Amino acid sequence: MRKVHVDLGARSYDIVIGTAIIDDCATLLRPLLHRMKVAIVTDDQVGALHLDALVGTLTGAGIDCVSLNLPAGEATKSWAKLGDTVDWLLAQKIERQDVVIALGGGVIGDLVGFAAAILRRGVRFVQIPTSLLAQVDSSVGGKTGVNSRHGKNLIGAFHQPSLVLADIGILDSLPQRDLIAGYGEVVKYGLLGNADFFEWLEVNGPLITAGDKVAREEAVRTSCQMKADIVMRDETEQGDRALLNLGHTFCHALENATGYSQRLLHGEGVAIGTALAFELSSRLQLCSQEDPSRVRAHLRQMGMKCDLKDIPGDLPAAESLLDLMLQDKKVLDGTLRLILAKGIGQAFLTSDVPQSAVLELLKDALADRAA
Ligand code: GLY
Repeated sequence: MRKVHVDLGARSYDIVIGTAIIDDCATLLRPLLHRMKVAIVTDDQVGALHLDALVGTLTGAGIDCVSLNLPAGEATKSWAKLGDTVDWLLAQKIERQDVVIALGGGVIGDLVGFAAAILRRGVRFVQIPTSLLAQVDSSVGGKTGVNSRHGKNLIGAFHQPSLVLADIGILDSLPQRDLIAGYGEVVKYGLLGNADFFEWLEVNGPLITAGDKVAREEAVRTSCQMKADIVMRDETEQGDRALLNLGHTFCHALENATGYSQRLLHGEGVAIGTALAFELSSRLQLCSQEDPSRVRAHLRQMGMKCDLKDIPGDLPAAESLLDLMLQDKKVLDGTLRLILAKGIGQAFLTSDVPQSAVLELLKDALADRAA
């Protein structure tokens, strides 16, 4: 079992990473509990696999559990389901001192975290992330929220969890496509700020997807440590934290264009967006021409999507995609701000991005689809 500590003063917490953590969760949770009761929110798919084990461990330790199963899928990150969740927590008489547990992937973590942020003006919550994507990114750092018809994650709050329990063993139950999509967020860390980690992934990435527990634990720990370091420097994204959005402006536009559907999973969009960000960086002569090729080669090696042509079905024209990118939360005074790179492991935030260059890049990528 390994720990990463997120030091945020009164909002500090541990990320505990290891195998069979669910078996130890009562001991890990106990110091947080004011009374022996927790509310667990999960989705129907994760719940079917892991809820009984979690409830069994907690009730075995004398902790009463109530649980809510929401529908699996991005559509659950909505005002409607947020309202249902908060109403259910109130109906269960969850008090200010209680703890709410989010058992699931990024959708459940974001929604439940936001519900906890607004319930009785804020209750504590614990993340038990069950996807690779949630273990390395969304469960850490306190970004919570739901989607709007205007775009993804546009409604939310910063609300740090009180504990994150990342059980590597749970990843064995993930469909391969979800696991590989989550790897998009792992590789992001190497590309944004740690060239050595990227090199390690070039060698060890296949072990991670093949199920090697040591490689998985190392990848999750390094990713969480990098995220913790950035969040400790910039909790509310006034500067450095934006680096974690490498590839995300392209990704969010593509997710919107594909209707947040199975055509494109979030991690797949991150991988494509990251490849596009490196391609743009190279075209703007910020990094070498070899860098985007190396990024794509690794994504391909891992069986990941890395081009617009890897997305099935129709896509809007380049102008419409650019318009969707302009809904990004980093847009300032109507100007696009992107995370670009001076090389592998050297990402930076810039508003010095000619929209014509982005448009050209998107046009070329769409033309490549048609070829
Ligand atoms: N997922 C990006 C962040 O937490 O800032």
